Amino acid sequence: QVAAASGHTVVLVDQSDEILKKSTKGIEESLKRVTKKKFADKPEAGAEFMEKTLKNLSTSTDAVAVVHSTDLVIEAIVENQEIKNELFKRLDKFAPEHTIFASNTSSLQITQLANSTTRQDRFGGLHFFNPVPMMKLVEVIKTPMTSQKTFESLVDFSKAVGKSPVSCKDTPGFIVNRLLVPYMMEAVRLFERGDASKEDIDVAMKLGAGYPMGPFELLDYVGLDTSKYIIDGWHSLEPNNPLFAPSPLLNKLVEEKKLGKKTGEGFYKYK
Ligand code: 3HC
Repeated sequence: QVAAASGHTVVLVDQSDEILKKSTKGIEESLKRVTKKKFADKPEAGAEFMEKTLKNLSTSTDAVAVVHSTDLVIEAIVENQEIKNELFKRLDKFAPEHTIFASNTSSLQITQLANSTTRQDRFGGLHFFNPVPMMKLVEVIKTPMTSQKTFESLVDFSKAVGKSPVSCKDTPGFIVNRLLVPYMMEAVRLFERGDASKEDIDVAMKLGAGYPMGPFELLDYVGLDTSKYIIDGWHSLEPNNPLFAPSPLLNKLVEEKKLGKKTGEGFYKYK
């Protein structure tokens, strides 16, 4: 959405037409909110902006066919190293020489993903934040193998889509998630110990620390499955780090398919 809105030709790729239909609908709705705000006094210019943006956007279920004519690939699939490696390995065979690959991974090592391809110098991290149309930040990650030219291209792209890039070494969670995820897990542990209710913890962090959402609202918003993938991955890397300890409650909710806002229930109910 943000790439299309800033004049880039975008092909959104996913596994089925049904998912793509849902994604397109989500983009249209989000775009309407952005347009309403941005062009409050100019409805005609707003309609033109919407039309232009949607024209820049097409969809496909065939990543290999699309990658033939792509300058930049931004991967944002399931947070699983093997599945991501497999995808990158396949795309690497069909992408043009100059094409840069980037991953939006929240927690996995960019270096390991890059090693599944033959273009380690044209590979980096490009980490956006939910909701992407609103959050101004992008973390741009340079591995020891990423060329300076690739890094600069990723920084330029981030600016071209209207974001403010920051850079970080290829370390677990980069900047934001390395601070945010342990904080959210500490909130779950506080609740699990029975020290405070989740409602009070959320109110406390909103009114006491000025956060726009409390930790449980944010966990539901990000998705409990994504949060669990992140913490489980870090726990396997550093089993003795108490900040990365898994939570029985989070595991239980994920097992029950209560994944947060997207499934209608997580820590809270949304139906
Ligand atoms: N698309 C477009 N615009 C949106 C939007 C979306 N998906 N979501 C919110 N907005 C905009 C709208 O313009 C809306 O105005 P409207 O009511 O006129 O449509 C405006 O935001 C305000 O939205 P709301 O009134 O619904 O609610 P808030 O004032 O609370 O703002 C929020 C919503 C911006 C999501 C705010 O609560 C917030 O900043 N929350 C914290 C988000 C955060 O921490 N994100 C990082 C998550 S971590 C992550 O992503 C990393 C990953 O790797 C796990």
